[in-house]
Amino acid sequence: MSEIIRFQTPVIYERRTATRDIELGGKIIKEGDRVAMWYISGNRDESVFDEPDRLRIERPNARQHLSFGMGPHRCIGSRLAEMQLRVLWEEVLARGLEIEVLTPPTYAFSNLVRSPTRLPVRIKG
Ligand code: HEM
Repeated sequence: MSEIIRFQTPVIYERRTATRDIELGGKIIKEGDRVAMWYISGNRDESVFDEPDRLRIERPNARQHLSFGMGPHRCIGSRLAEMQLRVLWEEVLARGLEIEVLTPPTYAFSNLVRSPTRLPVRIKG
């Protein structure tokens, strides 16, 4: 589940306002600065994830992904989201379903969420 959530990164970024001056990664962030946290970029950080652009479901550190954010506002529904995906895949595999993607997905016009709006599939089982 974690590798799928890392790879997809459904929420692309969140924004914070700095409460104090700080140096981060060699950059100065001033109190009051508005900062975008690009989860989609962190999830492709090659210093953390080997071959980050590949979906590798057995990736040992997939749970280090940032798709649920971090800190006090980290996603409160993360465990539910993981369980929903796990149950979905358990049932797909138990039924031996084959899901064939017919055309590439279309996405919502958004830089905040990576949200497919249309993904035609054929299900054989
Ligand atoms: C794969 C599915 C999901 C993803 C990728 C996701 C991602 C996120 C992200 C990135 C944040 C903001 C974290 C931050 O600001 O640092 C967030 C917050 C939140 N999420 Fe999710 N979420 C998912 C599913 C869910 C579900 C299923 C629920 C509820 C049942 C949920 C409820 C919330 C709530 C209430 C917050 C706000 C927490 C706060 O501000 O303290 N999320 N989520």
